[in-house]
Amino acid sequence: MKILVTRRIMEPAIELLKKYGEVEVNPHDRPMTREELLSAIADKDAVLTQLVDKVDREFFDHAPNVKIVANYAVGYDNIDIEEATKRGVYVTNTPDVLTNATAELAWALLFAAARRIVEADKFMRGGHYKGWGPMLFLGKGITGKTLGVIGAGRIGQAFARMSKGFNMKILYYDFERKENFEKEMGAQYVALDELLKEADFISIHVPLTPQTRHLISERELSLMKPSAILINTARGPIVDEKALVKALKEKKIYAAGLDVYEREPEFEPELAELDNVVMLPHIGSATEESRLDMAMLAANNIIDFIEGRVPRTLVNK
Ligand code: DGY
Repeated sequence: MKILVTRRIMEPAIELLKKYGEVEVNPHDRPMTREELLSAIADKDAVLTQLVDKVDREFFDHAPNVKIVANYAVGYDNIDIEEATKRGVYVTNTPDVLTNATAELAWALLFAAARRIVEADKFMRGGHYKGWGPMLFLGKGITGKTLGVIGAGRIGQAFARMSKGFNMKILYYDFERKENFEKEMGAQYVALDELLKEADFISIHVPLTPQTRHLISERELSLMKPSAILINTARGPIVDEKALVKALKEKKIYAAGLDVYEREPEFEPELAELDNVVMLPHIGSATEESRLDMAMLAANNIIDFIEGRVPRTLVNK
């Protein structure tokens, strides 16, 4: 069995895979170039991919033996699922193991944006602190406010659950109602426009699909309160980044906390000039615990396939 791992992941997963086949790991500390990827998959049976690897028709044309693509991410918008299914290729992802890590990071962004943590840190390092002041770095309080969750899947629900100590009202929008979530959290299902108008903090947790691309655009941003904060730890293209820059510049909304961008690793250059945005380099799942679990889950999906089982977190059932 020949296995390709397109980017170095935690060693125990590589060691495990080596017990089941011949493993080639991208030796570079960067994603594989398209040429490197297309050439490396030519003789492989299984591939452990990253969210930056585009797995499309061209990929499959170059990979006649590949029978499983194990994506090292919960999102799989980098993969043409229809094409994979048509060709009888299993696609798997890494759900659950990164839920809390990503929800925690959404909270980190919310706190940082609401309490202007990054701005204040820069201020200190710049030697500007001349002593306590009653108006210094006023931000937004969190307790008792309204939380708007767009997408009440695993991560959205975990994010909402983490608000328990803050006595918040929870509104959510999704393509379908989640009655258990409503019961558990007292969350209220509302239309997207209503959520945008009512919520103080809005956090995005839907996957990227044709339906969610630019779900938040100029019109939606204009519905938000001038005091609102938008958090995105899901996928960049869900938000129209140019429209977001405009809204932030014109103070149509108070702030944003971003872990993802429309054209990663690129982003609208003006974002970096704004004080009311906190920017992170797509590190939602980047805890030691989650990254090890993701690596082991992706490896175990490949092993399930090798041993003739249906992979445990199969996407194209
Ligand atoms: C995912 O899993 O989809 C994240 O974006 C990366 O961990």
